[in-house]
Amino acid sequence: MQRIVYSATDVSARAFLILAFRKAGLDVRADAAGNLFGRWHPGGVFPPLTDDGEPAPVRVAGEGAVATGSHFDAIPGSGIYDGTVGVLGALAAVTALRGAGYTPAVPIDVVAFTSEEPTRFGVSCLGSRLLAGALAPAAADALVGTDGVTLAAARADAGYTGPLDDVRLPDGAYASFLELHIEQGARLESAATPIGVVTAIAAPAAGWANFSGGGGHAGGAPMASRSDAALAAAEVALAAEAAAVASGGDGTVATVGVWDVSPGAVNAVPAAANVSFDVRDPDGGVRDAVVAAVRAAAEAAAARRGLALDWSVVSADPPASSDGGVVSAVEAAAAEAGLRSMRLVSRAYHDTLFMARVARTGMVFVPCRGGVSHRPDEFVSEAHLRGGVEVLARSLAKLAGR
Ligand code: GLV
Ligand code: MN
Ligand code: MN
Ligand code: MN
Repeated sequence: MQRIVYSATDVSARAFLILAFRKAGLDVRADAAGNLFGRWHPGGVFPPLTDDGEPAPVRVAGEGAVATGSHFDAIPGSGIYDGTVGVLGALAAVTALRGAGYTPAVPIDVVAFTSEEPTRFGVSCLGSRLLAGALAPAAADALVGTDGVTLAAARADAGYTGPLDDVRLPDGAYASFLELHIEQGARLESAATPIGVVTAIAAPAAGWANFSGGGGHAGGAPMASRSDAALAAAEVALAAEAAAVASGGDGTVATVGVWDVSPGAVNAVPAAANVSFDVRDPDGGVRDAVVAAVRAAAEAAAARRGLALDWSVVSADPPASSDGGVVSAVEAAAAEAGLRSMRLVSRAYHDTLFMARVARTGMVFVPCRGGVSHRPDEFVSEAHLRGGVEVLARSLAKLAGR
């Protein structure tokens, strides 16, 4: 499946979520980026209704609320758990808490973030970047999607027309933020441990190496005088692999995942090749050194092969650390639920990477079969989902008091 931001499937998921939030008794609002918020009021009190019978709109302002949530967009060819588990799991957790007779001392918000995946606009975590003030509103609106549509036009099309300047959270809006997510690796499964307590999120960087200026006839152009843009791109991919392996970091990874080669004919030497790069390490300095090595390889390949290189870094974000108090709350919650837990570093990024700039954060991981994710066969057992939701619920109860 896939669910690309502001597409028809994304918009129908939004309609589903708004209904589900309302059914759960939450007071719903959306911001101009389309981030969705469902608020459970302190003391379990419901807000007054407007004349239309709708809950009165609630502002998030300096209330030290506790928030939980994740994203609901999905890359092409993905599974159904990445992100979605943290949105529907948050809803299940607050529903369970309400059913158990718990009432929070501060508001609890369930947040469904807009576009954690960079699929359409090339920038990850759009909603949480804007909430944290990590992306300028004008720059966000000017982003152009793979379909040539600007973010400003695409969000308006999906019904979100207000100024993006209003998206940034007021200071202190959230005291803490906790995200439930699938591990997307196999460490929990290997250790037969149902709960992962995330201590940090690796620093991701991504961008493009675009080669152009080559080409020619596959029969007529002699090997010695060719400018083959795809071969330069191949050098970039191999250099990225070598630099990651040799980085000396803690599990550095590098990926060249998009290959756009033109003209794309069997009998034409590739004239242009645009390839993406994605590099991650828990240490931002190690990550930057790998990016620099990839760039040097790209420049050398372009020079040697007589090609022009357009190099761009789209994002290079610092890592995030979990808050000690949130980590302790999650560990205590797992112990109460009778579930073994272990600490780990998240090698995938998440909206928590940006929420960490405005709140004390943590993440709860559940195992996914074989560590498989961003693939159609991604799978999480019901028992692991239940365990994750229980730990999330118990953690929220600790963070939101009473
Ligand atoms: C997000 O899905 C990531 O690539 O970590
Ligand atoms: Mn993902
Ligand atoms: Mn995800
Ligand atoms: Mn992710």
